[in-house]
Amino acid sequence: MASNKENSGASFTLTDNRNGKSYELPVISGSTGPDVIDIRKLYAETGCFTYDPGFTSTGSCQSDITFIDGDEGVLLHRGYAIDKLAEHSDFMEVCYLLLYGELPTAEQKEKFVSSITYHTMLHEQINYFFRGFRRDSHPMAVMVGVVGALSAFYHDSLDINDPQARMIASYRMIAKMPTIATSAYKYSLGQPFIYPRNDLTFSENFLHMMFATPCEPYKVNPVLARAMDRILILHADHEQNASTSTVRLAGSSGANPFACIAAGIASLWGPAHGGANEAVLNMLEEIGDKKNIPEFIKKAKDKDDPFRLMGFGHRVYKNYDPRATVMQKTCHEVLDELGIKNEPLLDLAMELEKIALEDDYFVQKKLYPNVDFYSGIIFRAMGIPTTMFTVLFAVARTVGWVAQWNEMIEDPMQKIGRPRQLYTGETQRRYIPLHKRGSKSQG
Ligand code: CMC
Repeated sequence: MASNKENSGASFTLTDNRNGKSYELPVISGSTGPDVIDIRKLYAETGCFTYDPGFTSTGSCQSDITFIDGDEGVLLHRGYAIDKLAEHSDFMEVCYLLLYGELPTAEQKEKFVSSITYHTMLHEQINYFFRGFRRDSHPMAVMVGVVGALSAFYHDSLDINDPQARMIASYRMIAKMPTIATSAYKYSLGQPFIYPRNDLTFSENFLHMMFATPCEPYKVNPVLARAMDRILILHADHEQNASTSTVRLAGSSGANPFACIAAGIASLWGPAHGGANEAVLNMLEEIGDKKNIPEFIKKAKDKDDPFRLMGFGHRVYKNYDPRATVMQKTCHEVLDELGIKNEPLLDLAMELEKIALEDDYFVQKKLYPNVDFYSGIIFRAMGIPTTMFTVLFAVARTVGWVAQWNEMIEDPMQKIGRPRQLYTGETQRRYIPLHKRGSKSQG
């Protein structure tokens, strides 16, 4: 990994008004983006922790992988703009880029694609594992369980301090995720699992395992495969978001990487994160008609109403999410290819976006459509059921998770993640034996 850019001599002076003491805190500059104040010695020197719920001002690690400029709406992977990657690369190239830091040569790409392809099949015993789930289980629940179970298959052979062993585990995760995801879907339908085909690309294979049955030939539509590939690229990594931070935190103890990715999947499932694409579609269906939009905008603005416009807003982007721009274009391409002329949900989404972008509340809070706003409409047009939307996000994000996990293990600065707290509970109390406690004590 590129070395820490170290401090340029700049510093922050912190004065403790309680005792008048001053402390110099070094400032470290990265290659771009905001500087960081190095507080590693803060507690030792001042006896204070910092307090930052939701980590809104905290850089948890040093990373060379992904850069976001939220004000400008910029997303770079290893320095390459996301729209250029979505337009000119394919998902396998982006995976290689995230894992190794460079776009592959033709030869490197061929070798990489072949290695991923030959890891797509699941151990046959994993297939039996699915049967333990109820048929109506949410596929994300199945993903958490089955990906976690992979750790039982690849544990003893895996030394996480060996780069080669780490890379094999990484390839396995990237390769097997679509097979697990589509098997979860097939299981819910009661259809036989479809095995991967080595003559198909990653995205074609996903569509094949999702929609083929053993009864008749299935031909993958190249426009839909390209759209799927682009969607995978758009979701491949996104800096230190909740699920990635979860993977890093779980992995920081030296835990099995398959179990760490299962933890990432659990974090992704929430509606504030990867679950938003499913929530957008449910919301559009609930709105139902353009005439109801003002009522929902009003609800979203009401402080006493928990309702939020799903697919709007982002912790980092205070401008249009660059992924949403590509997603909107892809959405039109997919609907054209499928001959869907008037998709009421798309009309509704576009009208909602227009109204929200002109509304003072959304303008002032800089709430723009995010990547999830249009993805659900594309998935639906492709025939992918709503409950599978977040699963697709997990399939795509796996490469980001494993790239960040590898980077963390290699980082000489890496320590077990162990945040502290501002304790607000009772201070030490005298213990009262049961027979002496009053009748009012709470359960
Ligand atoms: N609808 C209405 N109001 C909103 C929304 C929204 N979608 N998002 C934020 N706000 C308001 C929020 O109420 C708050 O108002 P105030 O300052 O008056 O209290 C202000 O905007 C700032 O919001 P926040 O919750 O403090 O911001 P955050 O950075 O903690 O939350 C978010 C970011 C993505 C969780 C949030 O915008 C949200 O819940 N959006 C809807 C869910 C969604 O689309 N999530 C997908 C994110 S993109 C995919 C991914 O990376 O996972």
